[in-house]
Amino acid sequence: MLDAIRKRCSVRQYSDEPVAEDDLEEILAAALSAPTANNIRPWHIVVVTDAEKRAKLSKVHQWAGFCAQSPVVLVFCADGRRQPHWWIEDTCAALENALIQAAELGYGTCWIGIRGSEAEEGPGFEREEMVRDLLGIPEHIRVLALVSLGRPQGDSTPKQPGPMDAIHRESW
Ligand SMILES: Cc1cc2nc3c(=O)[nH]c(=O)nc-3n(C[C@H](O)[C@H](O)[C@H](O)COP(=O)(O)O)c2cc1C
Repeated sequence: MLDAIRKRCSVRQYSDEPVAEDDLEEILAAALSAPTANNIRPWHIVVVTDAEKRAKLSKVHQWAGFCAQSPVVLVFCADGRRQPHWWIEDTCAALENALIQAAELGYGTCWIGIRGSEAEEGPGFEREEMVRDLLGIPEHIRVLALVSLGRPQGDSTPKQPGPMDAIHRESW
Protein backbone atom coordinates (compact mmCIF):
# COMPACT_ATOMS: atom_id res chain seq x y z
CA MET A 1 0.00 0.00 0.00
CA LEU A 2 2.75 2.44 0.96
CA ASP A 3 4.49 1.67 -2.36
CA ALA A 4 1.37 2.68 -4.27
CA ILE A 5 0.98 5.85 -2.22
CA ARG A 6 4.61 6.80 -2.76
CA LYS A 7 4.45 6.07 -6.48
CA ARG A 8 1.79 8.75 -6.93
CA CYS A 9 2.92 12.14 -8.08
CA SER A 10 1.39 14.88 -10.16
CA VAL A 11 1.83 14.11 -13.86
CA ARG A 12 1.31 16.91 -16.36
CA GLN A 13 2.47 15.22 -19.58
CA TYR A 14 0.60 12.28 -21.06
CA SER A 15 0.93 9.84 -23.93
CA ASP A 16 -2.17 9.37 -26.07
CA GLU A 17 -2.58 5.71 -25.04
CA PRO A 18 -6.20 5.32 -23.93
CA VAL A 19 -7.11 4.24 -20.40
CA ALA A 20 -8.31 0.62 -20.47
CA GLU A 21 -11.95 0.29 -19.41
CA ASP A 22 -11.11 -2.36 -16.77
CA ASP A 23 -8.51 -0.05 -15.26
CA LEU A 24 -10.91 2.88 -15.31
CA GLU A 25 -13.48 0.79 -13.47
CA GLU A 26 -10.95 -0.14 -10.80
CA ILE A 27 -9.99 3.50 -10.34
CA LEU A 28 -13.65 4.49 -10.01
CA ALA A 29 -14.29 1.57 -7.63
CA ALA A 30 -11.43 2.83 -5.44
CA ALA A 31 -13.00 6.29 -5.40
CA LEU A 32 -16.41 4.93 -4.46
CA SER A 33 -14.91 2.88 -1.61
CA ALA A 34 -13.87 5.98 0.34
CA PRO A 35 -15.37 6.80 3.72
CA THR A 36 -18.05 9.49 3.90
CA ALA A 37 -19.58 11.26 6.88
CA ASN A 38 -22.71 9.38 8.00
CA ASN A 39 -22.19 7.13 4.96
CA ILE A 40 -24.13 9.64 2.86
CA ARG A 41 -21.89 9.20 -0.21
CA PRO A 42 -22.73 12.57 -1.73
CA TRP A 43 -20.17 12.31 -4.54
CA HIS A 44 -20.65 12.10 -8.30
CA ILE A 45 -17.91 11.58 -10.88
CA VAL A 46 -18.22 12.62 -14.53
CA VAL A 47 -15.85 10.68 -16.80
CA VAL A 48 -14.79 12.80 -19.79
CA THR A 49 -12.92 11.35 -22.77
CA ASP A 50 -14.30 13.54 -25.58
CA ALA A 51 -11.38 15.59 -26.95
CA GLU A 52 -13.43 18.72 -27.53
CA LYS A 53 -14.76 18.74 -23.99
CA ARG A 54 -11.30 18.10 -22.56
CA ALA A 55 -9.93 20.98 -24.60
CA LYS A 56 -12.60 23.23 -23.09
CA LEU A 57 -11.91 21.92 -19.57
CA SER A 58 -8.21 22.64 -20.10
CA LYS A 59 -9.11 26.33 -20.29
CA VAL A 60 -10.94 26.45 -16.97
CA HIS A 61 -7.87 28.13 -15.47
CA GLN A 62 -4.18 28.56 -16.19
CA TRP A 63 -3.09 25.38 -14.34
CA ALA A 64 -5.34 22.94 -16.21
CA GLY A 65 -3.85 23.02 -19.72
CA PHE A 66 -2.79 19.36 -19.74
CA CYS A 67 -6.45 18.19 -19.55
CA ALA A 68 -6.41 18.58 -23.33
CA GLN A 69 -3.67 15.94 -23.51
CA SER A 70 -4.68 13.33 -20.91
CA PRO A 71 -7.06 10.79 -22.51
CA VAL A 72 -9.43 10.97 -19.53
CA VAL A 73 -10.53 13.73 -17.18
CA LEU A 74 -12.49 12.76 -14.08
CA VAL A 75 -14.70 15.50 -12.70
CA PHE A 76 -15.25 15.09 -8.98
CA CYS A 77 -18.52 16.64 -7.86
CA ALA A 78 -20.88 16.36 -4.91
CA ASP A 79 -24.47 16.98 -4.01
CA GLY A 80 -23.98 19.72 -1.44
CA ARG A 81 -27.67 19.66 -0.61
CA ARG A 82 -27.41 16.08 0.67
CA GLN A 83 -24.24 16.85 2.64
CA PRO A 84 -23.81 20.61 3.17
CA HIS A 85 -21.04 20.32 5.77
CA TRP A 86 -18.81 17.36 4.88
CA TRP A 87 -19.09 17.13 1.08
CA ILE A 88 -15.60 18.52 0.58
CA GLU A 89 -13.91 15.98 2.86
CA ASP A 90 -16.03 13.17 1.43
CA THR A 91 -15.14 14.03 -2.14
CA CYS A 92 -11.44 14.61 -1.40
CA ALA A 93 -11.24 11.14 0.17
CA ALA A 94 -12.78 9.59 -2.95
CA LEU A 95 -10.46 11.58 -5.19
CA GLU A 96 -7.32 10.56 -3.29
CA ASN A 97 -8.35 6.89 -3.46
CA ALA A 98 -8.63 7.26 -7.23
CA LEU A 99 -5.16 8.85 -7.46
CA ILE A 100 -3.58 6.00 -5.52
CA GLN A 101 -5.31 3.25 -7.47
CA ALA A 102 -4.35 4.95 -10.73
CA ALA A 103 -0.70 5.08 -9.59
CA GLU A 104 -0.87 1.40 -8.66
CA LEU A 105 -2.00 0.62 -12.24
CA GLY A 106 0.83 2.67 -13.76
CA TYR A 107 -1.23 5.74 -14.69
CA GLY A 108 -0.38 9.34 -14.04
CA THR A 109 -2.84 11.81 -12.56
CA CYS A 110 -3.02 15.39 -11.45
CA TRP A 111 -5.49 16.97 -9.05
CA ILE A 112 -6.81 20.24 -10.49
CA GLY A 113 -8.66 22.39 -7.99
CA ILE A 114 -11.94 23.94 -9.14
CA ARG A 115 -14.14 24.57 -6.09
CA GLY A 116 -15.20 28.19 -5.69
CA SER A 117 -15.04 30.01 -2.42
CA GLU A 118 -16.71 32.95 -0.77
CA ALA A 119 -13.35 34.00 0.68
CA GLU A 120 -12.13 37.24 -0.85
CA GLU A 121 -8.81 35.79 -1.93
CA GLY A 122 -10.08 32.39 -3.05
CA PRO A 123 -11.25 31.51 -6.55
CA GLY A 124 -14.80 32.54 -7.38
CA PHE A 125 -17.64 30.24 -8.38
CA GLU A 126 -17.26 30.92 -12.12
CA ARG A 127 -14.94 27.92 -12.56
CA GLU A 128 -17.54 25.58 -11.15
CA GLU A 129 -20.16 27.20 -13.33
CA MET A 130 -18.05 26.77 -16.46
CA VAL A 131 -17.60 23.03 -15.75
CA ARG A 132 -21.30 22.59 -14.93
CA ASP A 133 -22.37 24.35 -18.15
CA LEU A 134 -20.00 22.31 -20.30
CA LEU A 135 -21.04 18.92 -18.90
CA GLY A 136 -24.71 19.48 -18.14
CA ILE A 137 -24.16 19.14 -14.39
CA PRO A 138 -27.21 20.34 -12.42
CA GLU A 139 -26.98 23.74 -10.74
CA HIS A 140 -27.12 22.38 -7.17
CA ILE A 141 -24.13 20.05 -7.70
CA ARG A 142 -20.78 21.42 -6.50
CA VAL A 143 -17.63 20.84 -8.55
CA LEU A 144 -14.64 20.07 -6.36
CA ALA A 145 -11.85 19.23 -8.80
CA LEU A 146 -10.77 17.69 -12.07
CA VAL A 147 -8.33 14.79 -12.27
CA SER A 148 -6.33 14.28 -15.45
CA LEU A 149 -5.64 10.59 -16.07
CA GLY A 150 -3.45 8.76 -18.56
CA ARG A 151 -0.12 7.06 -19.15
CA PRO A 152 2.70 9.44 -18.21
CA GLN A 153 4.97 10.71 -20.94
CA GLY A 154 8.56 11.09 -19.77
CA ASP A 155 9.69 10.74 -16.20
CA SER A 156 8.09 12.29 -13.19
CA THR A 157 9.67 11.71 -9.81
CA PRO A 158 7.54 11.37 -6.70
CA LYS A 159 8.44 13.82 -3.97
CA GLN A 160 9.88 12.68 -0.67
CA PRO A 161 7.27 12.28 2.08
CA GLY A 162 6.54 15.46 4.04
CA PRO A 163 8.98 16.29 6.86
CA MET A 164 8.65 14.26 10.05
CA ASP A 165 8.45 17.44 12.14
CA ALA A 166 4.82 17.61 11.03
CA ILE A 167 4.18 14.63 13.31
CA HIS A 168 3.51 15.33 16.99
CA ARG A 169 3.31 12.45 19.40
CA GLU A 170 1.08 12.69 22.46
CA SER A 171 1.18 16.49 22.39
CA TRP A 172 2.42 19.30 20.11
C1 LIG B 1 -6.41 20.97 -3.67
C2 LIG B 1 -5.36 20.82 -4.73
C3 LIG B 1 -5.45 21.57 -5.89
C4 LIG B 1 -4.50 21.43 -6.89
N1 LIG B 1 -4.65 22.13 -8.06
C5 LIG B 1 -3.76 21.97 -9.06
C6 LIG B 1 -3.96 22.62 -10.33
O1 LIG B 1 -4.94 23.33 -10.53
N2 LIG B 1 -3.06 22.40 -11.30
C7 LIG B 1 -1.94 21.60 -11.10
O2 LIG B 1 -1.15 21.45 -12.04
N3 LIG B 1 -1.72 20.97 -9.91
C8 LIG B 1 -2.61 21.12 -8.90
N4 LIG B 1 -2.46 20.42 -7.73
C9 LIG B 1 -1.30 19.50 -7.58
C10 LIG B 1 -0.23 20.08 -6.66
O3 LIG B 1 0.43 21.13 -7.31
C11 LIG B 1 0.73 18.94 -6.27
O4 LIG B 1 0.02 17.93 -5.61
C12 LIG B 1 1.86 19.43 -5.39
O5 LIG B 1 2.72 20.29 -6.08
C13 LIG B 1 2.70 18.24 -4.84
O6 LIG B 1 3.23 17.49 -5.91
P1 LIG B 1 2.91 15.93 -6.07
O7 LIG B 1 1.43 15.80 -6.32
O8 LIG B 1 3.73 15.49 -7.24
O9 LIG B 1 3.28 15.24 -4.80
C14 LIG B 1 -3.40 20.53 -6.72
C15 LIG B 1 -3.33 19.76 -5.56
C16 LIG B 1 -4.30 19.89 -4.59
C17 LIG B 1 -4.23 18.99 -3.36
